[in-house]
Amino acid sequence: MPIIKNIVILTGAGVSAESGIDTFRSAGGLWEQHRVEDVATPEGFARDPDLVLRFYDMRRAAIQTKEPNAAHRALARLDAEWSGELLIVTQNVDDLHERAGARRVLHMHGEHLNAWCTACDVRSPWTAPLIDRPPCPACGTSALRPDVVWFGEMPYRMDDIYAALREADLFVSIGTSGAVYPAAGFVRGARDLGIPTLELNLERSQGSAWFDQTRLGPATELVPAWVDEVLGGA
Ligand code: APR
Repeated sequence: MPIIKNIVILTGAGVSAESGIDTFRSAGGLWEQHRVEDVATPEGFARDPDLVLRFYDMRRAAIQTKEPNAAHRALARLDAEWSGELLIVTQNVDDLHERAGARRVLHMHGEHLNAWCTACDVRSPWTAPLIDRPPCPACGTSALRPDVVWFGEMPYRMDDIYAALREADLFVSIGTSGAVYPAAGFVRGARDLGIPTLELNLERSQGSAWFDQTRLGPATELVPAWVDEVLGGA
């Protein structure tokens, strides 16, 4: 087996499922009884800002009651002990990777615990509701929205992600359905670069065929076992 120095990991909702945070595609495409177009697009926000702000206020409050699970903790251990390059690219907007102790985390779809001011473009840490239109801590304007990437918006830091992928010796995808681009395309990008690819997921995902290896099971079992393997062989 070639020596692994640099690892890129992509995580999705499946990593947080066992912490009690619902995945997106488990309930027939509905997010807590809402259509995706209503609560996760700029058009939906323009149409009914109260609905969207309330929806994210609920989710922001909910994630603050959840705890990291064994999969988050294993990835944090890998981050602490891995001497090569490591990037945990997460599509999740919760902060469970960080609360488990991981540092090398990139939130490509933004973060629930940030508010983004559409007036001055500053992002501020935010744990409270937005429904009452609080002022931006930086400029004082009441123009805050959730700092979450909606459909039709560009995910964050794509250049950094592709730069990490180009240097990677292993690409691992954990708990994601492979349904949403550009993240769903990383595995093919990795393959084109000749990088070995591994999928850890509860069930076969839409992208499974692209991976060199797929392991099926709950993240809280698969991820700690894989991290032990990688650190043991380092
Ligand atoms: N362990 C491992 N995998 C799991 C577990 C678990 N305990 N529970 C569920 N899964 C898997 C499911 O089988 C599914 O393949 O996690 C995946 C979750 O898929 P989605 O709900 O589609 O979530 P995700 O892939 O993160 O969605 C991507 O879509 O709507 C957008 O912006 C949103 O970031 C999100 C993006």
